[in-house]
Amino acid sequence: MTSPKTALITGANGGIGSALARKLSAAGTRLVLAGRNESRLTALASELGVKALICDFTNPDQVENCVNGALFELGTIEAAAHCIGSILLKPAHLTSFEEWHATIDTNLNSAFYLLKQLGRPMGKSGGSIAFVTSVAAEKGLSNHEAIAAAKAGLAGLTRAAAATYAKNNLRVNCVAPGLTDTPLAAPITGNESARKFSEAMHPLGRLGTADEIASALFFLLSPDNTWITGQSLSVDGGLSSLQTK
Ligand SMILES: NC(=O)c1ccc[n+]([C@@H]2O[C@H](COP(=O)([O-])OP(=O)(O)OC[C@H]3O[C@@H](n4cnc5c(N)ncnc54)[C@H](OP(=O)(O)O)[C@@H]3O)[C@@H](O)[C@H]2O)c1
Repeated sequence: MTSPKTALITGANGGIGSALARKLSAAGTRLVLAGRNESRLTALASELGVKALICDFTNPDQVENCVNGALFELGTIEAAAHCIGSILLKPAHLTSFEEWHATIDTNLNSAFYLLKQLGRPMGKSGGSIAFVTSVAAEKGLSNHEAIAAAKAGLAGLTRAAAATYAKNNLRVNCVAPGLTDTPLAAPITGNESARKFSEAMHPLGRLGTADEIASALFFLLSPDNTWITGQSLSVDGGLSSLQTK
């Protein structure tokens, strides 16, 4: 598949973000990696020989500086993938206001701050933005109230932005993963019975890998797929749409 010439990856030190960084780098894309964890981000950036920008994506001023830094480094940002997120598995009555706000901030506000900064430059040059939502945005899963609200909001943001920027040839899509084996899922995957239960919940009988989600993001960012916009691509072992029992 053809790779974009340049890309900004946020959350690049995370499981899915780092898998995407390695794939795009191997395919020849010039990258800027952005994230919060300085030591892990700079280690990956020096492995790939690319620039790292430290940024807390819940801080709009830092996001503005980060996008300016990426534009300075790359000239034009042809593709951007936002691989930042968190997980909170609690029923509403046990969710504190702090947890609610932090979940919305990390998963939804961060994406808006990024889109707000990318809209003008990428609206001029065209290109592709990919967000990462969740199966919880599409299917009612118990104890997912805060994360489902944040990710469903992000799915709505994706579609509206796709409509707004279609005239600018800027495509906006998202990937909606099921439970994927990354550090984010460790509280579940680290517990044997919770892991087995989660595997059985997915019709394909296993969890996803970071590489599988990164492949879907690559697909949406690729200039081979320039007629796809406003879409949510489920990569979830069938969880959102199939019933096998
Ligand atoms: N893994 C799953 O089962 C699953 C399922 C559905 C959706 N997703 C989504 O997939 C995306 C990637 O997650 P992942 O599975 O790769 O998990 P991950 O390995 O934990 O990566 C998430 C990344 O987000 C970063 N991050 C969180 N808050 C941040 C902030 N304020 N500023 C900058 N970076 C921040 C984390 O940075 P630090 O290293 O500094 O904490 C980490 O690098 C997320 O949007 C997540 O919601 C994952």
